[in-house]
Amino acid sequence: MIQLHDKYFVDYISNRDIQAINKRLADQIYHDYFDKNPIFIGVLSGAFLFLSDLIKFYRGYCYVDFVKFRSYSGLESTGDVKTLLDFPDIKGKDVVIVEDIVDTGKTLEKIIQRVDELGAKTYKIASLFFKPEAFQFDYSINYIGKNIPDKFIVGYGLDYNGLGRSLPDIYQLKK
Ligand code: IMP
Ligand code: MG
Repeated sequence: MIQLHDKYFVDYISNRDIQAINKRLADQIYHDYFDKNPIFIGVLSGAFLFLSDLIKFYRGYCYVDFVKFRSYSGLESTGDVKTLLDFPDIKGKDVVIVEDIVDTGKTLEKIIQRVDELGAKTYKIASLFFKPEAFQFDYSINYIGKNIPDKFIVGYGLDYNGLGRSLPDIYQLKK
């Protein structure tokens, strides 16, 4: 068990299991993009470790960039999504959006609108984690690492009020 600020978290998913997921996702993506050079766009800050490991397993050439939005405060998704770092030029490009976790889906909804506005040629979404019980939209997530229950997790890029991102494994909030 670990403590971050005022909360306790229990062991949930090992880094070894995460790397197996990363390899599977990288292979699935390569299967779809082997004849293209897609641009992987990581959603900061949560996706920074996932993106860096994912592209190490990716067997083709690709571009890499980042965007940053803010929607979370503590344990709750606020729904009020602010742009902190906007997209690079993606007009006519094949975009793979790389998210750490899709919870309510509000952040990604805003990102998808922006990708449409900017005229990407195609786009798909890869998310390491997905909380189907919390998801409020009907767009599809093309590459899902693992479906998880609607419980707060930390580690491997994911934080609780700024702490926990550097942990190699994933931990779940203790009831
Ligand atoms: P959404 O807009 O509700 O889908 O939330 C999206 C963002 O909130 C994710 O990209 C994460 O950065 C953060 N988030 C959602 N669930 C969790 C969690 O369980 N732990 C840590 N961060 C989370
Ligand atoms: Mg995120």
